[in-house]
Amino acid sequence: MSNQIPEELIEQIRGANDIVDVVGEYVQLKKQGRNYFGLCPFHGEKSPSFSVTQEKQIFHCFGCGKGGNVVTFLMEIESFTFYEAIKHLADRTGIELPSDSIKTESSLSKENQQILSAQEWLTKLYHHLIRYTKDGKIGLDYLNERGITEEAIDTFKLGYAPNTKDFIATFLEKKGFHKQLLVKYGLLNRNQDNDTVSDRFRGRVIFPIRNHLGKTVAFGARALESQEPKYLNSPESDLFQKGKLLYNFDLAKKHIRKQSEAILFEGYMDVISAYQSGVENVVATMGTALTDTQAKLLKRYVDTVIICYDGDKAGIEATYKASKLLQQVGCQVKIASLKDGLDPDSFIKKYGGEVFRREVIGAPQTFMSFYMRYLKKDFNVSLDSDRIKYLEEVLKELAKIDSSVERELYINELSAEYNITAESLLEQIEQYREKSGSEKDKREKDRYTNKGQKSSGKLLPAFHNAERKLLAYMLQNRSIADKVQEELGASFNIDEHKIIATYLYGYYEEDNPEDVSLFIDRISDENLRKLVIQLALVPTQTEISDKEINDYLHIIRAEGSTGVDIKQLKAEQRLAEQQKDPIKAAQIALKIIELQRQVKH
Ligand code: CTP
Ligand code: MN
Repeated sequence: MSNQIPEELIEQIRGANDIVDVVGEYVQLKKQGRNYFGLCPFHGEKSPSFSVTQEKQIFHCFGCGKGGNVVTFLMEIESFTFYEAIKHLADRTGIELPSDSIKTESSLSKENQQILSAQEWLTKLYHHLIRYTKDGKIGLDYLNERGITEEAIDTFKLGYAPNTKDFIATFLEKKGFHKQLLVKYGLLNRNQDNDTVSDRFRGRVIFPIRNHLGKTVAFGARALESQEPKYLNSPESDLFQKGKLLYNFDLAKKHIRKQSEAILFEGYMDVISAYQSGVENVVATMGTALTDTQAKLLKRYVDTVIICYDGDKAGIEATYKASKLLQQVGCQVKIASLKDGLDPDSFIKKYGGEVFRREVIGAPQTFMSFYMRYLKKDFNVSLDSDRIKYLEEVLKELAKIDSSVERELYINELSAEYNITAESLLEQIEQYREKSGSEKDKREKDRYTNKGQKSSGKLLPAFHNAERKLLAYMLQNRSIADKVQEELGASFNIDEHKIIATYLYGYYEEDNPEDVSLFIDRISDENLRKLVIQLALVPTQTEISDKEINDYLHIIRAEGSTGVDIKQLKAEQRLAEQQKDPIKAAQIALKIIELQRQVKH
C-alpha cells in the first residue's frame, strides 16, 4: 500500500480510535459478555450476528463472514481507500497528518472530488452572503421572518444565492472549475446559445444537503415568494440520490444513538425548526416517499422511529407507507401527529417549541392506534357489513403484535366501541396468529438449515481442527509460532493455512507484536483476511501445555504423510487391478487399511 504516512503515526492513529466507537457510529452495538453484537451493516439480517471484539480490535460477521480491523471496516463501509480511512480516523481524534502525505489517493473519481470541492466553496460563499452582505439581506430577512435563528443558520450553513445572472459562474470559473462539469452537476445552466452558462440558483435561500460525512453533495434552493418551483434542487447524480440519503443525518446521528430514537420529518424546514426547539435527533426525507435504503439506514442506528409527517391527507398516507416499510426492516414505529393539517414547522411557529416537544414528540401514538384511525376512513362503520370488514382488517393487524398485554388493550377498546365481546375478538385474532405463526415457523426453519450448511465448524476432520487451533494459538503467542515454525514450517495440509502461517512467520520476524488487527493489514486477499479473523475467534485457553501443541503437530503431520501415502497406494492398487494382479492389489489394500487405522489413533 503506497502512502507516505509514517508507520508509527498510523499506529498512533489506530490506537486513538477504539473499534467499538468507530463501528458504533454505524451499527447499534450491545454488549454481550466480552463482545459487542449488532446487525451486520454488510448484509441484511434480522438477528445480530455481527460482533466486535474490543480486546482484539477486530470485527467479524458470523452471517456473511466479513471481518477485519477498524481500518478495513471503514474501507468496506465507506468505500474509502486505505489513506482515506486513516485520514478519517485522524480527523476523528484531532491528529494531524503531515501535509506532504495529503491527496495521494482517493476512492472518488476526479470529477466527484472537483464537484465536492466546488460545492464546499459554494456552501461557504452562499452562507457568507446571507450572514454578512447587503446582497444577502433579503434572504436573511426571509429566514428571520420564518423564525430561524442565526445559530441555526450557522449550524445548517444556510445561505442565499443572489439574483444575478452569472455570479456563481464567474466565481467558480475563476477558481479553475470547468463549466462543463458544473453544468453536468446542476450548479450552472447552459444558455440558449449553447456556449455561455449562467447561475442555476438565483434569488433563493440555499439549504446545503450534506451526506452522512457532512460533505455538501447537493443544494436545495427555496424561492422567497410563491414562485414555482418552491424548491429547486440539484439534480440526482452519483454523489446525490434523494432516496439514499436523509437530510441532517450527519448532525443527528449522535443524538439518535444517545436517545435510542429517531424522528423522521418530510422537509428541511421541519428539521431546522425542531432542532431550534431543542429536538436534535431529527432527519428528513426530501419530499419523496421513504425508501427501503433509508429505512435500513435508520434501523442500523435505532429500534424506534417516530414519524412526524404533515397532518394533511398526503402526510397521513405517507405516514402509513413509511410505517409499513420501517416495520418491515424491523423498526418499532410511533406516530407523532399534528392537528389542523399543519406541518411540524408551522405547528412550532403557531404553538411554540415547548408545546411541540411536550405534546407532539413527547406523546406519540402507537402504530396500532394510528392504524385504527387511518383505516376507518375507508369504511362506513355505521353499516354492519362495513363495520365487520373494518374489524377484520384491524384484527389482522392486531394479530401481528407479540405482546398479549398490548393486544388485550386494543381488544378492550374495540369491544367497548363496537359492542362485541372481547372473547370473540380474541378468538378471531388467535386464528390469524396461528396462520401467520406457521409461516413464521417455516421461515425460521429455512434460516436454520441455511445456517447449518454454512457453519460446518463442528464437523471438520481432526487434522483440520488441529490446524485451526494451532494457528489460533500462534496468532496470540509468538513463542508458539516460533516452535511451530521450527517443527512444522509451512507444512499445514490446508493451503490457506500454509499461506497464513507463512505470513505470520514473516510478521513475527519483523518484530511485530501479537496483534491480529495489525497482522491482517499484511493480507490483501479478502478471503484470507476473513479466515484469519475467524481463526482469531477460535476459542482458546490462556494456558496451553506443550503436550497439547505436540498433539496438534502430530495430527497434522500424520495427515500430511498418510494423505500422500494413501493416495500413492491407491494409485498402485488401481494399476495392479488394471494389470489383473489381484494378489498384489489385495496386499496394497491391506496396507491402506493399516495406514488408515494408524491415522485414526
Ligand atoms: N420538496 C422539493 N421540491 C418541491 C417541494 C418539496 O424538493 N418542489 C422537498 C423539500 O425537501 C421539502 C420537502 O419536500 O422540504 C417537503 O415539502 P413541503 O412540505 O412542500 O415543504 P416544506 O418543508 O413545508 O417547506 P416550506 O415550509 O419552506 O414551505
Ligand atoms: Mn412548511
